[in-house]
Amino acid sequence: MTDRDLIDRAMDAMKHSYSPYSRFPVGAAIECANGKVFTGCNIENAAFSCTLCAERTAVAAAVSAGQRDLRRIAICSSSMNYCFPCGTCLQVLYEFAPQFEILCVRADGRYVSYPITDLLPAPFSKDSLT
Ligand code: THU
Repeated sequence: MTDRDLIDRAMDAMKHSYSPYSRFPVGAAIECANGKVFTGCNIENAAFSCTLCAERTAVAAAVSAGQRDLRRIAICSSSMNYCFPCGTCLQVLYEFAPQFEILCVRADGRYVSYPITDLLPAPFSKDSLT
């Protein structure tokens, strides 16, 4: 799958965003090692801290379907700023893909891409627990 295909899947997922409070819809699409794609969107809540980010709903979809070898994620919003994952999402993404490639997309489809360790250079990981 090309970067553009994965970005299109993230943009489609963004249409399902439930974001009445921030009015900031986000979509995410994860490509697994076997080529399967799982998507997610942000899901807000009247108790704001219960909000789920798009990246984490996509990870939940993949892992719930038995996929733990995640390779690439595209994240988009309706803003003209590149959509970077928040710190919590970076930590969740790192658990399943220390070599994750992260595509941060803006509303016109342009994107920048980073290895996850550029965005989270000192992750807390399984090794931290030993
Ligand atoms: N949001 C995400 O979905 N992913 C991120 O990495 C950052 C923020 C959502 C949460 C909330 O619904 C809205 O964007 C504004 O913060």
